[in-house]
Amino acid sequence: MANIVIVGTQWGDEGKGKIVDLLAADADVVVRFQGGNNAGHTMVVDGEQFISHLIPSGILQKKICVIGNGVVVDPEVLIEEIDYLESKGIAVGPDILKISDRAHVIMPYHKLVDHGRERMKGDKKIGTTGRGIGPSYEDKATRRGVRFADLIDPESFDERLQAIVPEKNFYLEKFLGTDTVDLESMRDQYTQFAKRLNPHVTNVSVAMQKAGKDGKQILFEGAQGTHLDIDHGTYPYVTSSNTASGNACCGSGVGPKDIHGVIGIVKAYTTRVGAGPFPSELFDDIGDLIQQTGAEFGATTGRRRRCGWLDTVILNNAVRLNGLTGLAITKLDVLGQLDEIKICTAYEYNGQRIDEVPANLNYLAACKPVYETLGGWRQDIRAIRRYQDLPELARQYLSRIEDLTGVPIQIVSVGPGRDETIVLDNPFTR
Ligand code: GDP
Ligand code: IMO
Ligand code: MG
Repeated sequence: MANIVIVGTQWGDEGKGKIVDLLAADADVVVRFQGGNNAGHTMVVDGEQFISHLIPSGILQKKICVIGNGVVVDPEVLIEEIDYLESKGIAVGPDILKISDRAHVIMPYHKLVDHGRERMKGDKKIGTTGRGIGPSYEDKATRRGVRFADLIDPESFDERLQAIVPEKNFYLEKFLGTDTVDLESMRDQYTQFAKRLNPHVTNVSVAMQKAGKDGKQILFEGAQGTHLDIDHGTYPYVTSSNTASGNACCGSGVGPKDIHGVIGIVKAYTTRVGAGPFPSELFDDIGDLIQQTGAEFGATTGRRRRCGWLDTVILNNAVRLNGLTGLAITKLDVLGQLDEIKICTAYEYNGQRIDEVPANLNYLAACKPVYETLGGWRQDIRAIRRYQDLPELARQYLSRIEDLTGVPIQIVSVGPGRDETIVLDNPFTR
């Protein structure tokens, strides 16, 4: 029996959705533990694509899907996702989807604050997804949040709103100069959401303990990536939650002894959407080619993703911060048209070679990548299903990643489809 955490090692969009969907076949429960609908996790099964923003990516495998206390939930988006899946014949009843009674609710004023602040920041903006994620976590930390336990109890819900809304409206109108919210109509709308979602709301920590006692295997699905972590990422160009693997415990209510492995998802190159430093970013034709071949557009906002070479300074930071026990390399196929491929193995800062990510963003922005160059395999590898059938140069690239990180590769993904994968070591079927 194993419980495994999946995390993104870079700046998000590494292909977590695909790998979670794949591994969920052998798990029993799939749990989201942080983030919200800033996430966009893509699954492609039999040529059909589904992008999940809130529902865990185990849903297409018909596994129990859990939204942990660490997630911030926009109920309207969640209901849309449930309706969409059910219209496709996928059951998402209360026996399948469980929502923590302690998860925080994204309210309309969170989205207004998110947009208003970004507008005010002008060219200093973070480039958030505009989904109200930061303002919602902010209210959680300052004890002004609304949890599902409050949402489904009319008395508590009204009490919370009466206490919070006047201050929010003052801030929205007087400081941000934006629309305000109407307490009554917001309460009516959210009361309808509460009625719909109430049967799903439960004490997730208790449900997970029971699943463990029943011998069920749990897959924890991280959102965003290690370098968007509020503590360890490129602050302030980060999201507002801890994305590192340790938060799988706090964000769902299990203890660390129940985690048996952590797989880091590594895109074979690097992408970033939104603002913030990115040392190995490419501004040339190769960057454009990777962006086009990899169809690098955000799954949530449709924004063009910035592209660059694989960076093992970043990757080794993720190895340490998450305690990675294995890697899943995704989108290897995208590099199949290149004559040579570079890996950033260190930075040069002020004439000195460094292999750590500096905390000061001005220093990080001044870091120049130090590259080593490998040969490109110039071959379409999407049909390959066995490691030994990969071109020699592709295997050399993979083994160099293992050498530079000291972590074994467990999965290699060569296309977006569930079946376009080479599984070397499945932690659930060992
Ligand atoms: P996530 O947020 O980490 O789940 O990743 P996204 O879904 O936002 O972005 C990953 C994109 O790459 C999606 O469009 C996936 O369908 C696609 N994808 C995943 N793995 C592969 C792969 O191995 N090759 C190719 N070409 N595309 C992939
Ligand atoms: P998945 O789970 C890539 C980025 C935003 C912005 C910053 C803060 O699909 O990998 P936020 O809305 O969270 O306050 O925005 O974080 N960001 C992501 N980038 N993938 C994601 O999720 C992201 N979620 C947030 O672009 O730079
Ligand atoms: Mg994504």
